[in-house]
Amino acid sequence: MSEILINGGNPLSGEITVQGAKNSVLPVLAATILCEGESVIHNCPRLSDVETSLKILRHLGLKAVKQGDTAVIDGTKISEYDIPDSLMREMRSSVVFLGAVIGRTGKAVISSPGGCELGPRPIDLHLSALSLMGVTITEEHGYLTCTAENGLYGAEINLGFPSVGATENIILAAATAKGKTVIHGAAKEPEISDLADFLNSAGARIYGCGSDTVSIYGVERLKGTEHTIIPDRIAAATYMACAAVTGGKITLNNVMPSHMVSVLWVFRESGCNVELNGKSITVTAPRRLCRVPTIRSLVYPGFPTDAGPIVVAMLSVADGTSVFVENIFENRFRFADELKRFGAKIKTEGKVAVIEGVSELSGAECKATDLRGGAALVIAALKAGGKSIIGEIQHIERGYDGITDRLSALGADIRLIEK
Ligand code: EPZ
Repeated sequence: MSEILINGGNPLSGEITVQGAKNSVLPVLAATILCEGESVIHNCPRLSDVETSLKILRHLGLKAVKQGDTAVIDGTKISEYDIPDSLMREMRSSVVFLGAVIGRTGKAVISSPGGCELGPRPIDLHLSALSLMGVTITEEHGYLTCTAENGLYGAEINLGFPSVGATENIILAAATAKGKTVIHGAAKEPEISDLADFLNSAGARIYGCGSDTVSIYGVERLKGTEHTIIPDRIAAATYMACAAVTGGKITLNNVMPSHMVSVLWVFRESGCNVELNGKSITVTAPRRLCRVPTIRSLVYPGFPTDAGPIVVAMLSVADGTSVFVENIFENRFRFADELKRFGAKIKTEGKVAVIEGVSELSGAECKATDLRGGAALVIAALKAGGKSIIGEIQHIERGYDGITDRLSALGADIRLIEK
């Protein structure tokens, strides 16, 4: 079992390239199920969630190989329509395969995705939308069996909440359905536009992504295509926070600043100098970070919930008290108790975290509770004086490609150790 060992206190400097977006590559890999041919996906990050997705594609009968940061998927043939429970449990976001499998085969069997570290992860919005498109859904013994006897047909869909996954599942199901589908109240995250770009390059007709009304005109079939995944805006925010807490200055290459407006605002509010230069961002930390009075997570383009733990860790050493309000997930603050081991002063009450900035953190032994909570512990350990050990790093490896290599390249004293 690996752990991360960090000797904190080094100001970070230098430059790195940011990985491809986890939350884009997963739905794009699901979309290859709809493509009757070979698809080549570039800028594919090395993540355990990507490995799980490739396992699902191979189980379904597709050919799926990854060479470095390029995945090559051949969807000419599909022989199965179920996603094994073990793989569903390995990756909660496997639910995004549902729309694509039904779209290609007219049926799908998945185990009811349980909750995850962030709390219950219901899929009612996904299922009610698919029902409107002609899918019959039965649930027994923890399995959902979805069938579209007469194939999928377009529908007018109102999403009660702009769910990212539900928007993606509807787009995937509608791409080859009969007729037109309109999603009102769609999520606007950049990863959804990236999915639409992939599908449109494969022959789909999807319009309006990035707005709250998305129209999809179903087409007969999709062919294989080539696509480059957008940069990971949450990974970019994470490395910026690593520089911010250590009083460093780093440049991130291959980022999309336009996807990070609400995040960049928080870094500037905290006293960081943030320079944008095309697809690069240079962040220079102040001598001491300033508090940011209130940050609220919202759906895009608001401040992303996934960057919540990142900025909470960063502001734990700011001058003054900051408040973070989590409006998306019920259980976003599980990492707070682990962060307190470093001497952080954080009080959480429901969806509110009050962060009383301290001047120093001290090294600690801790365990990652979830993906972004784990990243928060890395940020704290980079700042803390002395040695820190972070366990349960499988959570971190789900979403960060080579985080120890990238931080080491920026001057951090960090390495993997075997427990
Ligand atoms: C996606 O999750 C991301 N995951 C999450 O990133 C991200 O935090 C989230 O969007 C919000 O931006 C992937 O893209 C793989 P939602 P998703 O459906 O699709 C409720 C990370 O750290 N809801 O927008 O599951 C739900 O309970 C991960 O990279 C329903 O009630 O998010 C939650 O409170 C974590 N019914 C809220 O909506 C539904 O049918 C947001 O969920 C669906 C969702």
